[in-house]
Formats: sequence, C-alpha cells, structure tokens
Amino acid sequence: MPLEFEASAAWRVEHMQRDRSWIFTLDDRSRAQLARAARDAFDPDRRLFDYSRADFDLGPAWAVIAAAAREVHFGLGVTLVKGLPREELSAEEFRLLNWAIGLNLGVARPQGKASQYMSEVRATGTDYRSAGGRGYSSNAGLDFHVDSCDLVTLACYNKAKAGGQSMVSSSVTAWQILVAERPDLAEVARQDFHFSRNQEEAADETPFYGQPLFDFEGGRLFCKWNRNRVRTAQDLEGVPPMSQAQRDCADLLDAILQRPEVMFTMWLEPGDLQIMNNHVMLHSRTAFEDFAEPERKRLLYRLWLAPPDSVRLPETWRPYFRSIDPGTVRGGFRGHHHGETCRSFERRQAESLGMPTTIV
Ligand SMILES: [Fe+2]
Repeated sequence: MPLEFEASAAWRVEHMQRDRSWIFTLDDRSRAQLARAARDAFDPDRRLFDYSRADFDLGPAWAVIAAAAREVHFGLGVTLVKGLPREELSAEEFRLLNWAIGLNLGVARPQGKASQYMSEVRATGTDYRSAGGRGYSSNAGLDFHVDSCDLVTLACYNKAKAGGQSMVSSSVTAWQILVAERPDLAEVARQDFHFSRNQEEAADETPFYGQPLFDFEGGRLFCKWNRNRVRTAQDLEGVPPMSQAQRDCADLLDAILQRPEVMFTMWLEPGDLQIMNNHVMLHSRTAFEDFAEPERKRLLYRLWLAPPDSVRLPETWRPYFRSIDPGTVRGGFRGHHHGETCRSFERRQAESLGMPTTIV
C-alpha cells in the first residue's frame, strides 16, 4: 500500500489555523480593476459562451488568483481569495466576473442534467436525498464529497441568514489515518465502489460506474467519495449490494473526515472565492436558512474547471473522467444538452489555453 507520496495537502486543522498562507487578499487597486473589467465587458444580450479571455483585462488581480490556483494544484489543495468586488457589481456582473476568472483558469465543464457551465448555488427546493437530487440546489447539509472535476471555484455573492458554513477535509490526511488505524479497510477503499450518475448521464453513459475511493498515480494520491451517490446507486439494476466491509469502510471514512483535527470549517463571505482541488480535498456544508427577500438569499457561483496544468490521473479514474492524460479537457457531467455549441466552446477555450482540442 503506497505510503510514500507527495503530501503537502496532508494538513490538519491546527496547521490551517496557524499558517494562513491559504488566504490570498486582493488590494483596492486589483479589486477596482476587476470591477471595471466585468462592467466594461457586460452585455445582457451575450451568453457566457460568447465571451473569450481577450474580453477581460483582469489586471494585477490575476497574479494573485493564479498564485492561489497554483497552491490548490501543488500545495495545500484549497485556498480562499478574498476581496472580489461584490459591492461594486450587480449579481449578473459578478457572475460574469467569475466566468472571466474561469476562462483564465481552465476549460469550464458542464455540471449536470441541464449541461450548465456555471451553477448558481442556491436553494430552489431540490431534495438532496432523492434519486436525482443535487446538493447545489437544496438547502440541506451535505455529505462529504468531491465534485466531479479537477478544480472547483465557488464565489460567494450572498451569505445565508443562518448556517451554510463550508467544511473542508484533506483526503490525504484521511488516507493516512485510515491506513494507520484500519489497514484492512484501506485495502477495501482501493477497490471499486459503485456511484450513481443521479439520472444526469449523457446518452452514451451508463447510469452508474465503478471507481475506488483511493488510488495513486505519479507519486500523488487521488480520492473519490460521495456517500449520497453510493447510496442511490444501491437502488439501480446491476449494482452489486455493498459488502459489510465496504459499509464499515464508508462509515470510518466519514467519521475520520469529521474529526475536529481533520475537518476545517470556514465561512464564505460575500466577495470570497474558494478554489479547491477535488483529488485531494473533500468538502461539505451545513444546512442553511435563507432570508425572506429574494435578493438576499444565499447565492454562490460555481465553476468546474479542467486546468491546463492538471496531472495524470490513475487508470481507475478513466471510466468517469474519460481522459486521464495531463492537461486535457476532462471531468464534469455532460448531461442532456451537451451539443455542438458546448463542444465548440470547449474547443475554443482549450485552444486559447494551449490544451489539446480533441476532447473525448
Ligand atoms: Fe460539491
């Protein structure tokens, strides 16, 4: 069982509290330039796909955001960029600003049944626990999980009236604890679990797929976990029932992820941008209660990204990601509306970032 691997993401809570190098702050000049870039480019008649990187001059903020993304890829696995110009922009302009940042960080990936490339994380009454349920449109507390892409960005426009706290745990730390305490269950975690696609599969995809919870490639650890999707997969035809060992493994993993020395909690304030590497971080959030006024309801903008500097994935990641080659366009849920418009956007974006334009 690999114990020697790149482990800068193996932090514990005390480390994150002591060393605040995961927080990046934009100064006034950077913030003003970002506000200008979003306002100048904003045109209510243009779709997000119609914008390109050249439409935005992000100014000095870009160096800060790029440094935060590097730390996410090759360091701690999670960072927070504080100070996006929330007060200066309308919700639509703020959304566009995040799209512009995404255009520079990677190729946006579709995020669900509607094949949307930007999700508005807000409560719209979805039942998270249903067969096709998703967390981003519910107000429920969520199980610890990874999002289905290399990199996720979450920008806060409005906080909830109460709750909605963000939790992050390192899967590298969790793996080290699992191996130390229960090497037998760590072996179980190296074998396939079955995950439901929660009715969001594209026409050429199966309703579920198998993937181990942990694997290694190129001296790096990769984690995949989402209890809600493993649970809903159990109702699908063709999925073998979970073994007792798998249940024990899942229970212990979830318990480890919530230990006070492992689970780091943070509040996302309006104007905060959280960037996370899904291969080494798991996340969750507490249930929340909204304000009554529509314009004050909790609202975050989420992007799933395939960055140009991504690393090779384990072979066992191929059934889900399709491509495991470094620096390729991969991940996301293509959903039910992934047509030529989406594909041509992806090719254009890949080309502009120097990534292969053949997308599998
Ligand atoms: Fe998520």
